Amino acid sequence: MTTASAIATDATVLFTELTGDAPAGLWSAPGRVNLIGEHTDYNDGFVFPFAIDARTVVALGPRDDGRIRVVSTFDETPVEVALADLDDLFPARRDEIVEWARYPLGVAWALLSAALLSGQDAAASATGVDLAIASDVPVGAGLSSSAAIEGATASALNDVWELGRTRVELAQAGRRAENEAVGAPTGIMDQMASMLGQADAGIFLDCRTLAAEVVELGFDAAGLELLVMDTQVSHAHSTGGYGERRAACEHGAAIMGVAALRDLSVADLPRAQQLMDDVTFRRVRHVVTEDQRVLDAVRTLRDEGSGAIGPLLDASHASMRDDFEISTPELDLAVEVARSAGAIGARMTGGGFGGAAIALIERSLVASASAAVEAAFAAAGFGAPHVFTVRPSEGARRDA
Ligand code: GLA
Repeated sequence: MTTASAIATDATVLFTELTGDAPAGLWSAPGRVNLIGEHTDYNDGFVFPFAIDARTVVALGPRDDGRIRVVSTFDETPVEVALADLDDLFPARRDEIVEWARYPLGVAWALLSAALLSGQDAAASATGVDLAIASDVPVGAGLSSSAAIEGATASALNDVWELGRTRVELAQAGRRAENEAVGAPTGIMDQMASMLGQADAGIFLDCRTLAAEVVELGFDAAGLELLVMDTQVSHAHSTGGYGERRAACEHGAAIMGVAALRDLSVADLPRAQQLMDDVTFRRVRHVVTEDQRVLDAVRTLRDEGSGAIGPLLDASHASMRDDFEISTPELDLAVEVARSAGAIGARMTGGGFGGAAIALIERSLVASASAAVEAAFAAAGFGAPHVFTVRPSEGARRDA
């Protein structure tokens, strides 16, 4: 992974090429790995992600014409609109904006419309801005490159527009951008992890109340590393399976007469099985058991340390593979090989249908496990995976 300062330099250079000036400031936010709790967030349930040491940096400078212009290392063609036009663009005309630019422009739109609703003058008087965005969070790997853009942009605009929003409110603006400006029906986990992350800690989040607890992970003390095995099979949640899974969960909740699957427990599953078709039941069983696994993982980690959560990671993967059916042959292979190479637990992470798997593994086994995964992918005729370790890191912040 590139160093944070190299990304900051990239953003600064891009900004200066765009404007001829130095930026007024730099803000950054990380991607995330979800340790456990998959597809539980939009069911009002529990998640336990952590922010990683790959970040997106936004270099920002004000302009005096009420326009917003964004440029990024994803695509150096600038996109520019009047702030006053954002409300017409999103969500109705979002297709007119190239996809990557919907993230930062969508955040600006979400923040301004929230300010307007709460009667803040900021909405009317917001100054125009130029933003240059650089990132080393892998795109399409299930590590929330999108939440990193949203978190860095929201933090920057919150400061320059003096909106006074809390970190949770900035996460909510990011989620609204993702849901309405991009059109991906995702939950709140990624934005919360990116905003609230802390070094060496996970964020135990109740997605109904948004109560968040910082839980020390102690990987270092236990001699453990978190290995990411990016299958390089890209996924997108604005299309296809993600929305279908979400609909199945809502259907299951309706059959059971509850507001969200969070309101069911493992003891309700036999009744659920009698009331619903097999596919809906298996979707429901994944979410209900996954919520329980998150609670168990946090308790186990606190009582016995991170070395004891392996079986819960393994069970989570099996549930996603067999009940929720969002794994892929590449993810299954990465998980199996990592385990045979000594990982204490492994699972796919993120929305699924591609992206990355994670393994919790002793430091001394990282090199041999990485080589084993690469060799197994080659033998299976899969494209080469990208295997690397990540560290639980700090959330969104102002860097300069
Ligand atoms: C994606 C979404 C999240 C969450 C996960 C699955 O990362 O952005 O909101 O639903 O998938 O746990």
